[in-house]
Amino acid sequence: MEMIRVNLSSNSYNIYIDTGLLERIGDTLVKEKAPCKTLLITDTNIEKVYGSIVTESLKRNKFDVRLVSLQPGEEQKTLGTACILYDACFDHKLDRNALIVALGGGVVGDISGFVASTFMRGIPFIQIPTSLLAQVDSSIGGKVAVNHPKGKNMIGSFYQPKAVFIDTDTLSTLPAVEFVVGLVEVIKYGVIRNAELFEYIEKHLYDILQLDHTALLKIIADSCQIKTSVVEEDEKEVYLRAILNYGHTIGHAIETLTNYNKYRHGEAIAIGMLYATKIAIEIGLTNNKVYERQLSLIKRLGLPLTIDLKPGDIVKTLYTDKKVISGKLRFILPKKIGEVIISDEVTEEILYKILNAPL
Ligand code: GLY
Repeated sequence: MEMIRVNLSSNSYNIYIDTGLLERIGDTLVKEKAPCKTLLITDTNIEKVYGSIVTESLKRNKFDVRLVSLQPGEEQKTLGTACILYDACFDHKLDRNALIVALGGGVVGDISGFVASTFMRGIPFIQIPTSLLAQVDSSIGGKVAVNHPKGKNMIGSFYQPKAVFIDTDTLSTLPAVEFVVGLVEVIKYGVIRNAELFEYIEKHLYDILQLDHTALLKIIADSCQIKTSVVEEDEKEVYLRAILNYGHTIGHAIETLTNYNKYRHGEAIAIGMLYATKIAIEIGLTNNKVYERQLSLIKRLGLPLTIDLKPGDIVKTLYTDKKVISGKLRFILPKKIGEVIISDEVTEEILYKILNAPL
């Protein structure tokens, strides 16, 4: 088992990574927290495969657990669904000593964390992420939110879980395409902070895609470690945490313009990473090799490389992102594999130039 400590003074917690964690979740949790009223939040897909394993493990360890299952999908991440979950909290008589357990992908994690952060002004919650994306990104670092018609994740807060339990076995039931798009975030970590991780993915992509345990443990632990070190330095995204958004500036614009239903998050981010690198080349920050290495990996993953969108629409949409600071666009640009800079100086002229050329 790998264990990574997230040091955030009184909000510190551990991330555990191993196989077979779900069956042992109750036993492991009693070491962290005394048995108590517990609301287990999941979705109907995850419930079918893992609902009873987790429920039974908690019950065996005397947790008084009730399971609530949401319909799967991003459309569920609303204040309306949060209200249904608050009702469940009242029905099951949760108090400030109770526990919310989020079992699922990013949607379940984000909304469960949001409910935990607001019910009675905040009750403890833990994350059991079951998708690669949630394991390496959304379950760690305390960003919790619901969507608003005006934008994704617009209503939320920073609220850290008490622990994160990553069971790599859950990746065997994740659709292959979801695994691949999660891998884009792992590649992102390599580009922003760890050239050795990037090289490892280049060399071991086959093992990773075959879900080889050693390879999975390595890429997940490295990703969690990078995210942890960034969050420890800048929990509330005053500055440095923005580097985690490499590829997300143009990526989010692509998702917004296609109503979140043409490209999966990782697909849009992969395209965004390539455009960000093109910007970096254009301003003389990096070289073509940095672009070619990312392009090669993204091609090997079979991800789309074309967008049928007008550059003008993309540029306009960039300004609606919540990461726009005082009307200035913020880009994360690679200097080399393993190092990025934060730039507020990318001009519209450069944007039009790179968006008008194919990847
Ligand atoms: N996914 C970016 C962050 O957690 O800051």
